[in-house]
Amino acid sequence: MKHLLDIKDLSVAELDELIAVANDIIADPRKYSEACHGKKLATLFFEPSTRTRLSFEAAMYELGGNVLSVAGANTSSAAKGESIADTARVVSCYADIMAMRHPKEGAPLVAAMNSSIPVINAGDGGHNHPTQTLADLLTISREKGRFDHLTVGLCGDLKFGRTVHSLIHALSRYEGVKFVLISPEELKVPSYVKAEALKTRNVPYEQTTDLSEALPSLDILYMTRVQRERFFNEEDYLRLKDSYILTPEKLKAAKADLCVMHPLPRVNEISVAVDSDPRACYFKQVLYGKYMRMALILKLLEVKV
Ligand code: CP
Repeated sequence: MKHLLDIKDLSVAELDELIAVANDIIADPRKYSEACHGKKLATLFFEPSTRTRLSFEAAMYELGGNVLSVAGANTSSAAKGESIADTARVVSCYADIMAMRHPKEGAPLVAAMNSSIPVINAGDGGHNHPTQTLADLLTISREKGRFDHLTVGLCGDLKFGRTVHSLIHALSRYEGVKFVLISPEELKVPSYVKAEALKTRNVPYEQTTDLSEALPSLDILYMTRVQRERFFNEEDYLRLKDSYILTPEKLKAAKADLCVMHPLPRVNEISVAVDSDPRACYFKQVLYGKYMRMALILKLLEVKV
């Protein structure tokens, strides 16, 4: 049985296959509308979510399946002290596949070790968010037509931003990719991510605090929110939260075919005035997330269409 706990669980060939299926769903959604008839997805979200939970649920409904949902840490028996392992055993009795979001890094791994159905990591603490990366990859594929030879700027909270960690792992496997890591000193990409994804593969990267200086060289700018919920004190969050704000003025220095991405939710990092710029791709990214989650559910349930 296969789980998706980390983007590294998928080979480049498997990523290509998921992207091909997602594109086929976009082209002909009716072909897939009964593919998961009789199957149930459990969404277990012990942390807030709008996009990930609802897109998983929309994905399963659009595949003709059904959904069981726990939304919020206080609405399940986890609030009474039930362990992740027991929760996974119990949910395995009711559903065919589960997607779990949890504030503790590694919680979906514990669930997978105790589950008899596939487990999908829908975001674990400041660690990983592999299905956001699937959404990001489909966006890049459709907007840029390639993954290789791209200069990718990642900007904001690169320390706690789990989407960035998964995306670095995914894109570092493609030839000619360069990273520009733009963050305050306190919010740099963790050393373990740089060691595993960048240094072992000799992937070029630079670290800077200056977004305006980096902007002209970028093919992709991936903005992120400062992750208030992971800070140990509010003072540090307040000091760092508005470190980077992308505005139409700043974008004047960027390439005409720049792709501006953001996993969302945004707080202040991208001015709403940027939304009407044709380079703004973050709402397309939301929609593509649903199609990639449909493709992933089909793959993990071994459903052939
Ligand atoms: N991108 C993302 O994970 O959004 P949600 O927290 O709303 O699921």
